[in-house]
Order: sequence, then C-alpha cells, then structure tokens
Amino acid sequence: MLIFLIFNLLLVAILLFLIFAFSMFWPPDSPWAPWWRTDKKMAEAICRFAKIGKDDVVYDLGCGDAEVLLIAAKKYGAKGVGIEIDLLRFLTAKIRVLNNRLGKSIKIKRGNFFKTDLSKATIVNVYLVPKTLEKLKAKFLEELNPGTKIVSYKYEMSLGKIAEDKRKKLFLYQI
Ligand SMILES: C[S@@+](CC[C@H](N)C(=O)[O-])C[C@H]1O[C@@H](n2cnc3c(N)ncnc32)[C@H](O)[C@@H]1O
Repeated sequence: MLIFLIFNLLLVAILLFLIFAFSMFWPPDSPWAPWWRTDKKMAEAICRFAKIGKDDVVYDLGCGDAEVLLIAAKKYGAKGVGIEIDLLRFLTAKIRVLNNRLGKSIKIKRGNFFKTDLSKATIVNVYLVPKTLEKLKAKFLEELNPGTKIVSYKYEMSLGKIAEDKRKKLFLYQI
C-alpha cells in the first residue's frame, strides 16, 4: 500500500516537472518567461504608475490570468482587452473575469498579439522579454495612436520613455 502511494506521488512529481519544463518552451514567442505573472500589489502599482482611469482602454498583451486588467477595471473603471496565446492562461483569465462580473468591461481573446489590431488602445500593458518587446516596437509605432501609453514591467524598450520607477522596474512610454 505504502509503495503504491509512493509510486503515485513520484508519478505526480514527474508529471509536474514535465509540465514545468514544457512551459519553458511554450508559447514559442516567450520561451523563458511564460509562467511569470504580475501579483496584485504590482498590478496596483502598474495602474497607479500609468495613471489608468475610467476613460482608458487597456490592452494587455499576453494577459496571463488578467490580474492587471481586473484591477484596472475594478478599481479604476477602465475597459480592458486581454490577448493570451496559451489555452490554460486564457481560460483562467476568462473565468476570473466572469467571477468578478466584469464581462462587460474586459474582453479576453485567445490569440497572438502580433496578429491583433491594437489601434483602439489608450494604454498597452506588457510584461514580456526584451526580444519580444523589440519585435513589438514596429507594431506599436504603426498601429497605436499618438498619445497612447505603453507600460512595461521589468524590461525596458527603445521607445520614447516618459517615466520610470527603477525600484519597481516599471517603465512608461508614449507614442
Ligand atoms: C511573463 S507572462 C505575463 C503574464 C501577465 N501579463 C502578467 O503580468 O501576469 C507573458 C505572457 O505572454 C503570453 N504570450 C507570449 N507570447 C504571446 C503572443 N505572441 N500572443 C499572446 N500571448 C503571448 C504568455 O503565454 C504569457 O502568459
């Protein structure tokens, strides 16, 4: 009986390890960071730092479980669009939005943000690796309206920076 239990625990541990290892390679655009997420405290800090308000439409590129969008809508009255390529995180975000009764304010779409029109955004939120940010730069310059802000957590990009919080690793850009 004990051996059976240990064997099962071992199987679960191997399975969890395999899932974790797989997450290092998927999705392909963000090979080493897909499981990193923004916690509630940092999501609050992002909203304050970017001065998100009720007139804003926040596009979260790779929204994960939608923590930033939930705070932006719940506390600051903003509208939100989250784009997420990973099925598990897309479903988690959807469920969290519905649980919070924010389905009218936040839309979660499953897809690739490189193929999504961003022109309706007033603020773009990103927590992505530098390589991906660099690839997004041309899209930002082409699609975003003048005045649109981009808030990036952890990583900088080569755009017109208007503010930064070095301690929290928050960077704000404006088109
Ligand atoms: C570092 S996580 C950040 C998640 C969330 N924004 C947060 O701060 O908690 C990056 C997210 O981007 C997603 N992602 C990466 N490349 C993507 C792409 N091309 N289109 C849509 N989502 C993508 C990943 O699946 C992952 O959930």
